[in-house]
Amino acid sequence: MNLAVVGTGYVGLVAGTCFAESGNDVTCVDIDEQKISMLKGGKVPIYEPGLEEMVRRNAAEQRLSFTTDLDGAVKKSSVIFIAVGTPQGPNGDANTDHVRATAKGIANAMDGFRIIVTKSTVPVGTADRIQQWMTEETSHPFAVVSNPEFLKEGAAVEDFMKPDRVVLGGDNTEALEAVKELYEPFVRTGNPILVMDSRSAEMSKYAANAMLATKISFINEISRLCETKGADVGEVRRAIALDRRIGPHFIFPGVGYGGSCFPKDIRAMISMGEDEPEMVLLKAVEKVNQRQKGILIEKVTRHFGADLAGLTFAVWGLAFKPRTDDMRDAPSITVIEALLKAGAKVQAFDPEAMGEAKKIFADRIQYANRNYEALPGAAALLVLTEWNEFRRPDFVRIKQLLEHPVIFDGRNLYDPTDIRRLGFQYYSIGRNDG
Ligand SMILES: NC(=O)c1ccc[n+]([C@@H]2O[C@H](COP(=O)([O-])OP(=O)(O)OC[C@H]3O[C@@H](n4cnc5c(N)ncnc54)[C@H](O)[C@@H]3O)[C@@H](O)[C@H]2O)c1
Repeated sequence: MNLAVVGTGYVGLVAGTCFAESGNDVTCVDIDEQKISMLKGGKVPIYEPGLEEMVRRNAAEQRLSFTTDLDGAVKKSSVIFIAVGTPQGPNGDANTDHVRATAKGIANAMDGFRIIVTKSTVPVGTADRIQQWMTEETSHPFAVVSNPEFLKEGAAVEDFMKPDRVVLGGDNTEALEAVKELYEPFVRTGNPILVMDSRSAEMSKYAANAMLATKISFINEISRLCETKGADVGEVRRAIALDRRIGPHFIFPGVGYGGSCFPKDIRAMISMGEDEPEMVLLKAVEKVNQRQKGILIEKVTRHFGADLAGLTFAVWGLAFKPRTDDMRDAPSITVIEALLKAGAKVQAFDPEAMGEAKKIFADRIQYANRNYEALPGAAALLVLTEWNEFRRPDFVRIKQLLEHPVIFDGRNLYDPTDIRRLGFQYYSIGRNDG
């Protein structure tokens, strides 16, 4: 089938490439000319495991192409996916301007029936609005299908190829059937394609992210209580995770959630409930998260004092989570800004996010080429992202390179007893700080 995917970011590029991988002819469209020319040259502008190789192969086999020409892409495609960004608006609401512009652009380019599939995370009721926006522009028939995306950055290709479930919303049976067929190659092991009304589909995406963010804020709040009461959140986590009603996933304490989705989607949901009902729980989830982003700074200033002038800190991990270069709303930004504000210098390393970090901090911090190169002269090491390569480092070397053997571990990667035996002062989340 001929498909177009509008928006070639984390979601659109992965979706377009995976649809090409299953044999469709896919045109990926973006307004960002630089991104499109990079992709045309075989370069992938984001880091996502397995993606670059798949993009190159499908492009070489001429099933995947890139363009800024929406009109041409719409003319040759029967199904058009909208995967443009829905950033946070001024009141916390999701800004659907890009979705609106895309819907109108598609409508103006249409020369017959088309199926429009919304992959962007959009406020409940947006499918109806898309219908209206497009009707204002075209008299050609079309159907709108809501298809929220549940992939995780860092495992996006894998998630897309083997989704836990696919959710489709809409009321046009023919269109729903056509989109269902596109997903059949990815659900061969029996994972379900759920078909529902568009509002429920749109809500499902927000509800899923709200649940996940709630779990993170829950364990982070418990971790604070553990610290004040002398309990160990690691032990508590193990104990509650074995309860099948709770389970082991997404209850790891840390420095708060970040990324391009949870923060903005939680705020969008709070905004959706502005009139009624007040999102009491999600407001608390957000508040806990804001507080948690400051936990390492609380520990740093408790150790070194509020004035950090003259001190340098090594930071390992800038991306909001491992296996991505995405730094949108990353806790590392809050932590580094607070260090700089207190007068400290920062030497940072991340395996993939250095390019993104340079866009944010420019020359306000130092960038190391390897993790150990961030350490010389530093008063302490802060670990902010749980990249695998930070899990079993050479502690003897770390101790030699740091000015003081102090580690602030925002991800509980190390065993407190082992690391203290090596002579470190060790601070982590929800465990005895020694
Ligand atoms: N990143 C994730 O993990 C993830 C997961 C699920 C859902 N989502 C949702 O998917 C959507 C896209 O997210 P993303 O992370 O891929 O965003 P992104 O910022 O990485 O990519 C969006 C792309 O859309 C392009 N764009 C904007 N307006 C356009 C227009 N009018 N025409 C063509 N292209 C246009 C931008 O140039 C950009 O390349 C958002 O609604 C997001 O909430 C994201």
